[in-house]
Amino acid sequence: MSKIILTGDRPTGKLHLGHYVGSLKRRVELQNSGEFDKIFIMIADAQALTDNFDNPDKIRDNIIEVALDYLSVGLDPAKANIFIQSAVTELTELTFYYANLVTVSRLERNPTVKSEIQMRNFETSIPVGFFTYPISQASDITAFKATTVPVGEDQLPMIEQAREIVRKFNGTYNAEVLVEPEALIPQNSVCCRLPGTDGKAKMSKSLGNCIYLSDPADVVKQKVMSMFTDPDHIQINDPGKIEGNAVFTYLDAFATDEDFAEFLPDYKNLDEMKEHYQRGGLGDVKCKKFLLNVINKELEPVRARRAELEKDIPAVYDILRKGTEVAQAEAAKTLAEVKAAMRINYFDDAALIQGQQDKYNK
Ligand code: TRP
Repeated sequence: MSKIILTGDRPTGKLHLGHYVGSLKRRVELQNSGEFDKIFIMIADAQALTDNFDNPDKIRDNIIEVALDYLSVGLDPAKANIFIQSAVTELTELTFYYANLVTVSRLERNPTVKSEIQMRNFETSIPVGFFTYPISQASDITAFKATTVPVGEDQLPMIEQAREIVRKFNGTYNAEVLVEPEALIPQNSVCCRLPGTDGKAKMSKSLGNCIYLSDPADVVKQKVMSMFTDPDHIQINDPGKIEGNAVFTYLDAFATDEDFAEFLPDYKNLDEMKEHYQRGGLGDVKCKKFLLNVINKELEPVRARRAELEKDIPAVYDILRKGTEVAQAEAAKTLAEVKAAMRINYFDDAALIQGQQDKYNK
């Protein structure tokens, strides 16, 4: 069986370091591993509208930002097909048919939907589109017969729901049309949850605690130098705390032994550095300067590629247009199989038409 990847992001803002360590970096590795027959990366604008329906310009403007972020981290349109969800109308059609296979109470039990409803204060009036987006996400995945869905942990309930829909569909229509996907989550737990620069749980635009992939070097410097550390580490010689110290959490996510050799040869590795910090005698500024070097080393090639891409924005839209055409053709094949299995492919079925005639000829 072919190995096929589908994943994507809602275009509600620029992508940041949390996205980078949590998913983008891995995607590029998977892309370059040569292990996959097809790779689809979707800009989930229709899903983003389920809770931003009153702010379409936000979604419209962020499509190009996400596309630039994708390409600048090294997603390569020759290997990974990047497309726009809303332009593949087959996905909407699949969603309508899958909706028959899912109960309201099952959607209510979806933990991701539950917590999002709370976050958005939707308790008293949940838009139907938002409530049913797990069904639409199952369409995104199954339309491409994806076997592998690289996502963050928070998306596991979505993949589980998609797997249920696949089983229910194949069982109900007695067909082996849809493929059960597997989630692929980050191996490293720090990478699942990179905190904001303020040390708060998650990077989020509304908290203003993100380092964006598109931030210029001086902005990254200012953000790193003002990062949250250990508020009780006042004098250099005071013992310092690692837990909850954003600088060390970022170092956990980014720093390699080679980075120490290159930028901070006082230590062989992060364990030695942490040990010194905890003992006392290592100042925050030194730690932050090291982190800044580590982050810049990672972001400089990304920044350079972005600067090139920004010179020709129409070419980026062309990449999306071509990717969308490929995705559309693929989804159309699956939709045809789905409709045949559901016995609603009337015009494609000459035997059906003749059979109905024969009934009247008897
Ligand atoms: N829900 C995902 C997010 O919020 C985006 C998404 C939409 C997605 N459809 C998908 C991810 C299908 C993986 C597979 O980031």
